[in-house]
Amino acid sequence: MLSDINNMEREVIAEHVPLSASLFGKVLDFSENGLFLVDSDRKIILWNEWMVQASSLGREEVIGTAFVDVFPNLKGRRIESVINAALDTRTASLLSRSLNKAIFPLYLSEVGGEKRHLEQSVTVKPIQSNGHDYCLIQITDVTPMVQREDVLRVLAKEAGEALQVAEEASRFKSEFTSTVSHELRTPLTSIRGSLGLIVSGVMGELRPEMARLVGIAYNNTERLLFLINDILDISKIESGKMDFVMEPVDLKTLLLQSVEANQAYGEQYEVKYVLNDVDDGVTVYADTDRLMQVLNNLLSNAAKFSSKGAEVEINVIPKDAVIRVEVKDYGNGIPEKFQSRIFEKFSQADGSDTRKIGGTGLGLSISKSIIEQMGGAIGFDTVAGKGATFYIDICLFNDA
Ligand SMILES: Nc1ncnc2c1ncn2[C@@H]1O[C@H](COP(=O)(O)OP(=O)(O)OP(=O)(O)O)[C@@H](O)[C@H]1O
Ligand SMILES: [Mg+2]
Repeated sequence: MLSDINNMEREVIAEHVPLSASLFGKVLDFSENGLFLVDSDRKIILWNEWMVQASSLGREEVIGTAFVDVFPNLKGRRIESVINAALDTRTASLLSRSLNKAIFPLYLSEVGGEKRHLEQSVTVKPIQSNGHDYCLIQITDVTPMVQREDVLRVLAKEAGEALQVAEEASRFKSEFTSTVSHELRTPLTSIRGSLGLIVSGVMGELRPEMARLVGIAYNNTERLLFLINDILDISKIESGKMDFVMEPVDLKTLLLQSVEANQAYGEQYEVKYVLNDVDDGVTVYADTDRLMQVLNNLLSNAAKFSSKGAEVEINVIPKDAVIRVEVKDYGNGIPEKFQSRIFEKFSQADGSDTRKIGGTGLGLSISKSIIEQMGGAIGFDTVAGKGATFYIDICLFNDA
């Protein structure tokens, strides 16, 4: 092999590498890149083993032959001018695969004897030695990288298509949910109105059995309306269409209204709401109706999960830039294994059909979205068997 290296090569090698020529020849042959050297006459004077394999041209065929005669198809192509530039103006170049595609007609044998086309990137470097100019060409096989890129491109395309299908399905689902819910809400509101009038007795006295049945129908209509409103809220949250009218809100007034609005509900469970000291003039920055909705859910939960005769306390605690409102009950608390799911949609500690306490498990999930979108936070503390304290941190209004 070494005999293939002519005197000129030896000269170049000897000057640049303080190793024996035979060792240097082996090193070149071990290279996992193609290497060949062209002299100022454009003749090839070095051709490593990798080049022999990839071109199927032995050294005896190429050494001393003009570069363009070895690769006649490359005459007039960019690689020829790049080699000329390296020799004439000592300019180095990199020919990337992406810009220059297949540069040399090279192939590598694969296991099984199949030949595969070689995707390559090529560096062309001018070298000077003993007053002579040479050009070193190094070829790197980038086929594995190109194959990986192809696979990634296909995967990215498939993922993009799957995402599009999922988005369309999700859009359809949320449009469907919201249309159906709206369509249901209108007639239900009218049914509830009519039943409400009958239940209140303004249409005349009802026989006790009839009054009981109409009462059941009225309560169930009410529950259905709550459910539909919750589902509409969830679909608004999921499609990012829940609007907030942020404004300064007087906290004490809002808490008093909220306690009053839930009083009758609390009485059903024989629970009393106690609003502890709240300073006058505390102003938070929130959407009044949405904040009321969150408080209603916390107050109704506290009543539902308290024992009869218990109190539910509402405390206001200032904390740096936020104000914390906590709703504390003395019920059974939240089972440990349920705690991580409590803010998920439709999650209830008791999800059985035999559940005695009403609700759909949407309240806390909606509350969390509302509070977070208003820039606040929601959380809870609980001790099994002793009760639960839910809190919301709301931003204070800063009129500075
Ligand atoms: N104060 C509490 N004490 C004990 N468990 C609670 C308390 N608050 C909530 N939970 C548990 O968390 C579940 C979810 O509450 P959430 O408010 O989301 O739904 P819900 O009250 O069941 O129904 P909805 O609020 O939609 O009418 C409840 O069903 C209950 O299991
Ligand atoms: Mg609830």
